[in-house]
Amino acid sequence: MIRAFRVPLLLATVAALAGCPEPPIPEPDPLWPYGDDPVEYVENVHYGRAVLERDLTDHDNSYASRRLDRYGLEGTGWSSLPVRDVPSRSLTDVDVAAAFAGEPFPNDARLTTLVPDELPTTTEAWVDLGRRVFFEYPLRQDSTYAALLTVEDGLDQAGFLRDGDTRVGLRVFENDDGDLVVGNTCAQCHASPDPRTGELSPTLANRQMDIGVARLLADGLTPGDLPPELDSTAAGDWDRLGPGRSDVLADGAFNPYAYPDLGGIADLPYLHHNANWFHRGTATLAVRCETLFITANNERTRIPRVLSWALAEYYRSLEAPPPLVDEVSDLAAAGEALFLDSVCVDCHTPPLYTSEREVRVNEIGTDPSAGGSFARGTGNYRIPSLRGVGRTAPYLHHGAFDTLEAMFDPERDEPGHEHGLDWSDADREALIAFLKTI
Ligand code: HEC
Ligand code: HEC
Repeated sequence: MIRAFRVPLLLATVAALAGCPEPPIPEPDPLWPYGDDPVEYVENVHYGRAVLERDLTDHDNSYASRRLDRYGLEGTGWSSLPVRDVPSRSLTDVDVAAAFAGEPFPNDARLTTLVPDELPTTTEAWVDLGRRVFFEYPLRQDSTYAALLTVEDGLDQAGFLRDGDTRVGLRVFENDDGDLVVGNTCAQCHASPDPRTGELSPTLANRQMDIGVARLLADGLTPGDLPPELDSTAAGDWDRLGPGRSDVLADGAFNPYAYPDLGGIADLPYLHHNANWFHRGTATLAVRCETLFITANNERTRIPRVLSWALAEYYRSLEAPPPLVDEVSDLAAAGEALFLDSVCVDCHTPPLYTSEREVRVNEIGTDPSAGGSFARGTGNYRIPSLRGVGRTAPYLHHGAFDTLEAMFDPERDEPGHEHGLDWSDADREALIAFLKTI
């Protein structure tokens, strides 16, 4: 492993000692030494381990340590968990009505599994399989959603989308004991109609999803009308959360994160608001998702690796969300000139409108709580790409603003990211018009 670096370094040292000009040291290949390789990933446990060690940007937070302690170890840790290709089917209106009446799910519909006989051999086949995993593979049996089915209109109130007579983001599946139960899928938070085609896709997240409302209803409480004594409890946090956000940091503090849009993710240098993964390709995403499935199901089972690779191939294939406004008005053109001539491009560098630059939590000045958290904090917030930004509200890691106008309002109370606030009213108007066209 070390040889590729050692030789040039040695040459450089010898050359320097001999007084010669130093030969250039080649840049390491960013994929070195583990390029994207589905067969290695599926068959060789050491491959995923190497990717994990290579791509976590901070090895000390609890998200990283939990994975480093257990993932990709031969015959021990998570490698020894039973692999499950979960048999499942859609949750239909008939199931919802049965659950509401306190009856079991009608179980005559066929349950399907996902693992193919052979590994896919084309990108298209990987993507097709991954789409199915995204919409069909349940993360875990979930008592919250089972209870939500017994609340009138509970699924609508919580923001679950429909697809015909089925519900997006929930599946009926067979648990380890052979019982039919309900669980959530990736589509719960990450799928909504694609603005280009109207088809359900993770290009843009499901911003109606309000898991706070789901939790409160499941507990028999009324969102927006909690007894005051619950205000400083977990229920109070669920009530404050709002749609399009989840608190994924297991640190006891209230740290909501806005759902990221997965369209265009293939181009992003970092994953997660805290940039706690360096993103080097499908392998990064496959390991990230494989470990998510394991932790989501409380370390009881693991997903077949062919499915986690397919899942990663699927959402990596999605284009960035399209601009909100197609036509570039004179105002927007003026805004573009201002943007290109400003500090914005140091961080939001065209054409991706992001960059690898590390931005410390204190430098950007937004709520520091999540960025510094021991749970998955790195001390940084990543620079979001601004492609399709007119459609990706709420803005900032915690979804602090519902509109660009609110984010660039100099009178706002929310601290941080003050770039642009000192521009004239006319310049800010032009800036916003421009942002809606990218
Ligand atoms: C309950 C809602 C929810 C569910 C279900 C969910 N996610 Fe997420 N997802 C989030 C949130 C919140 C984040 C932001 C986390 C962070 O920044 O640390 C996120 C982040 C991500 C990211 C990183 C995106 C980026 O731009 O950095 C990927 C990829 C992702 N999720 C894929 C999935 C997949 C695949 C599944 C199914 C296995 C899934 N998610 C299930 C809420 C959810
Ligand atoms: C020092 C680097 C830096 C500069 C300069 C900068 N930004 Fe940002 N920008 C960030 C970071 C980091 C975030 C995310 C902060 C967070 O999540 O708390 C962000 C977030 C945003 C968002 C919200 C996007 C989303 O999806 O949540 C917009 C819009 C934005 N910036 C536009 C601009 C504009 C316009 C300028 C110039 C006036 C600018 N930025 C200057 C680093 C920068």
